[in-house]
Amino acid sequence: MDRKEEYNKIAEKIVSHVENGTTDQAPEILKVPTSDYTSHERWSSEMKDIFQNLPLMLALSIEMPNPGDYKAMEVTGIPVLITRDKSNKVNAFRNVCTHRGAIVAQEGIGNRSRFSCPYHGWTYSNSGDLIGVTDKPKFGDIDNKCFGLEKLQCKELAGLIFVSLSKEDNVDFENFLDGMLPEMEYFNLENWYYHGFKVIDGANWKIAFDGYLEGYHFTTAHKDTIATMTMNDIMDFTSFGPHLRIAFASTNIAEIHDLPKDEWWKKEGCGVDFVRTLFPNIAVSLGLGIGQIAQILPGKNPYTNTTILHYLAPQKPKNQKEVDELDYNMNFLRDVVNNEDYLLGIEIQKGLNSNSNNSVLFGRNERGNQFFHKYVDYYVDDSIKKPPKL
Ligand code: FES
Ligand SMILES: [Fe+2]
Repeated sequence: MDRKEEYNKIAEKIVSHVENGTTDQAPEILKVPTSDYTSHERWSSEMKDIFQNLPLMLALSIEMPNPGDYKAMEVTGIPVLITRDKSNKVNAFRNVCTHRGAIVAQEGIGNRSRFSCPYHGWTYSNSGDLIGVTDKPKFGDIDNKCFGLEKLQCKELAGLIFVSLSKEDNVDFENFLDGMLPEMEYFNLENWYYHGFKVIDGANWKIAFDGYLEGYHFTTAHKDTIATMTMNDIMDFTSFGPHLRIAFASTNIAEIHDLPKDEWWKKEGCGVDFVRTLFPNIAVSLGLGIGQIAQILPGKNPYTNTTILHYLAPQKPKNQKEVDELDYNMNFLRDVVNNEDYLLGIEIQKGLNSNSNNSVLFGRNERGNQFFHKYVDYYVDDSIKKPPKL
């Protein structure tokens, strides 16, 4: 099936849900133990078996498009340095000096062909080689080749930079992304304009992620914002490996009937809205006047996360008015996510920490959340041999 046919079908399903007052449903209600959101032991397993084991989307290509660009960040306590070398190839390393462990590049984004450690000045190239040992004759004879920054597997795909924090040698990034790879490639994100980012703090990483996976909370939590644009509790789910494509109905979806059915795919983003998730922590929404890519980074314990909201647009703004519009949309969405989802998430964390309920319920309509939690269990629990099906 080509993409247009596939998207015509999704639109048909969404229209039928709107007209019949239905939504895509899981067979049963799912109970998830409250301790999955509160236990330190559980959280440590998630960090080890998920975040430090699977490919993670750590940067957008357009954040670091030029040779020499780099991004330094910390992910689950591991300092990571991503560089683009002079051949335009993306590399990733543990951002830890091989001398005595100092963090080599301070967190942030910049352009540098070499990195000098702040402690004793050892120098590394942006392809990770140790190129300078201060006072080498006094230090002693070491083979520079054996003391480059420790490499991490990484790959740039679909305008996104994926890094694996695992010690594995041959990470198959394409296989992990499954059908989500062509889904994302379609947008040519490497040619978009990077407008900026906002950082917000929230609760457990799964509480944050749960918020991107359903539209059941729109009329209550987003009454004057999202709910004026997107219908409540109407969703269609498709999975690609652990990743999800979620379709929602815009409030103006009735206008789709102005088009013949074989052109309904044209209503993507203006009739049928999509959120695409990359397991375990990325939610991509490319409509609403600006693209938003949410990157959820677990905090130092089960109770917190820091989310980077990246904002991008298909084209560079042509004048100040267009810049102002992007700023407006960026601030609007940040406020929605922060004030209406994440503050609620912090309240949810309080509720769960109080041990009032033994479990959290996901309704048949919260199918994406059910799938996500089953996938987390699949990675964390060795007794589950097969990945869940949607
Ligand atoms: S710790 Fe980096 S040069 Fe000494
Ligand atoms: Fe929300």
